[in-house]
Amino acid sequence: MRKKIVAGNWKMNLDYNEGLALFSEISNMVKDELTGKQQAVICSPFIHLHALVQLGKGNDRISVGAQNAHQMEAGAYTGEVSAKMIKSVGAEYVILGHSERRQYFGESNELLAKKTDTALANGLKPIFCIGETLEERNSEVHFNVVKDQLADGLFHLDEEQFAKIVIAYEPVWAIGTGLTATSDQAQEIHAFIRKEIAARYGEEVAEDTTILYGGSCNAKNAPDLFAKTDIDGGLIGGASLKSRDFVDILKVFN
Ligand code: 13P
Repeated sequence: MRKKIVAGNWKMNLDYNEGLALFSEISNMVKDELTGKQQAVICSPFIHLHALVQLGKGNDRISVGAQNAHQMEAGAYTGEVSAKMIKSVGAEYVILGHSERRQYFGESNELLAKKTDTALANGLKPIFCIGETLEERNSEVHFNVVKDQLADGLFHLDEEQFAKIVIAYEPVWAIGTGLTATSDQAQEIHAFIRKEIAARYGEEVAEDTTILYGGSCNAKNAPDLFAKTDIDGGLIGGASLKSRDFVDILKVFN
């Protein structure tokens, strides 16, 4: 059975104290209210990581991740943070290739392939984001876009490496817009993603791969989305900034 995950992406929100307070609330609620095998992951700004890992100790249901990592191991890259540094504070996951990084920071599939290698070499589990823009969906090339993102960003990995990857399908037009993909639209492309993984790594690996949906996911639409066979959880932006909203999404898997 593949892992069910609901990951919060805080993006560039919350100062240090606000972040610690929100994490503590979520951690307590997760302990008290979750009854299934679902995993909560909080992807915070770098500033919070060390303290959140400490706060989360003793609560197996919650993990901590970063939102980016540099592709090089170390060196003269002023202002950057390495995968080794992230791992050294005890974080477990790292989001790679979020559409905001692709769009505002020019991250290409080729660069993301390097980032993935470095993250894996340092023991981090990448949450690798893929998804099409509105223009691409309207011109009906979304399957090709996702196919290329997978092939160019991930499919150089061997099977053992690929087993550590979580995929997040986030249609860019649904991020922060209040427009969610319908559960049928999401299921259709998740099934396609799983089929592509099966073609590269075989059925068994594909069946074990966790594929998250992201883009205006909330406690209202999550039950419908998560009921679909190929949707294994969510990557949550806005609704991850409120403890009640975020934990209610997690509780869909109770
Ligand atoms: P929203 O949930 O705010 O649409 O953001 C989704 C997202 O980008 C998560 O990575």
